[in-house]
Amino acid sequence: MKALVLAGGSGTRLRPFSYSMPKQLIPIANTPVLVHVLQGVRELGVTEVGVVVGNRGPEIEAVLGDGSRFGLRITYIAQDAPRGLAHTVSIARDFLGDDDFVMYLGDNMLPDGVTGIAEEFTTHRPAAQVVVHKVSDPRSFGVAELGPDGEVLRLVEKPPEPRSDLALIGVYFFTPAIHEAVRAIEPSARGELEITDAVQWLVSCGADVRASRYDGYWKDTGRVEDVLECNSHLLDGLSRRVDGYVDAHSVLVGEVVVEVGARILRSRVEGPAIIGTGTVVEGSHVGPYTSIGRNCLVTDSRLESSIALDEASVTGVHGLRDSLIGRAASVGTTGRGTDHHCLVVGDHTRVEVAA
Ligand code: TTP
Repeated sequence: MKALVLAGGSGTRLRPFSYSMPKQLIPIANTPVLVHVLQGVRELGVTEVGVVVGNRGPEIEAVLGDGSRFGLRITYIAQDAPRGLAHTVSIARDFLGDDDFVMYLGDNMLPDGVTGIAEEFTTHRPAAQVVVHKVSDPRSFGVAELGPDGEVLRLVEKPPEPRSDLALIGVYFFTPAIHEAVRAIEPSARGELEITDAVQWLVSCGADVRASRYDGYWKDTGRVEDVLECNSHLLDGLSRRVDGYVDAHSVLVGEVVVEVGARILRSRVEGPAIIGTGTVVEGSHVGPYTSIGRNCLVTDSRLESSIALDEASVTGVHGLRDSLIGRAASVGTTGRGTDHHCLVVGDHTRVEVAA
């Protein structure tokens, strides 16, 4: 089996971050989403991976390289524009050949793994096997209506009155039967070749299409609040590791990772939390549920349930919470005795200050 990992797309929901970086490189517990995805693919025993990239391909390639670091062989497949998930299957036709493959959305986190579902697929080898997850409000998802043995009777995109609460999530298993389906479908109303239409085409032709339930933790990291929630979830599994420097005036509480070259000075770090390589935390209280990237500076501040990307700085700010701070961004104060806020805010940015 091969894998097709999708790391193109436009990432509009993750602006402003997606203006300057591919959203699949946003770190969760200090590791890019896409690296978590590749680790999930490797767990399936797959080694040949096609990674679909858009105009931010070079940045993704700089991080993943040829894949050998993850025990994989990566082939990059360029997509000229986000023309839909089924479009990625058609441009990957040469790479995929006549092999079965798993298609994995590069911004979806399934940390509990899908090895059991992959085994079901290779044992029974239906034309397609989709992965579904019970959601509280299925109206914004592709929804699967299933028969008694898990066979897919119908897929409906964003139904106003859903007849099931099982949403399609970011992993699909396909035999080469999908290629004919992708050729047969037309772009949807939003102008994309939809994978749900291709799978529904197989169902309508009477092909064996099955669904497997994934009951573990799942998150589409498409929006800032999803990234923060997923970060908290992953940090819950953290184990204490202190490879950096912690001075005698600092306290680490619970599961804290201090990476090599990080320095904790006169501070309290409350786990779960990670402090990245080269970062300095001084006179501050960080955590819980906080990931600080590499080469950041946190001085005289208090932050929790947040993520700071590489080279960010936070100075003199108390009470930061549920915040995602971009690469090399700086958050500070206007100085003692002042009573105004000073903001330099980019396009599609959101700022919320205490009332
Ligand atoms: P989406 O999150 O559905 O699409 P998007 O990236 O355009 O995001 P937004 O809705 O915020 O604008 O895409 C799921 C994954 O598939 C994501 O990793 C991007 C990738 N993708 C492609 O590689 N090519 C495509 O044509 C599309 C639509 C998505």
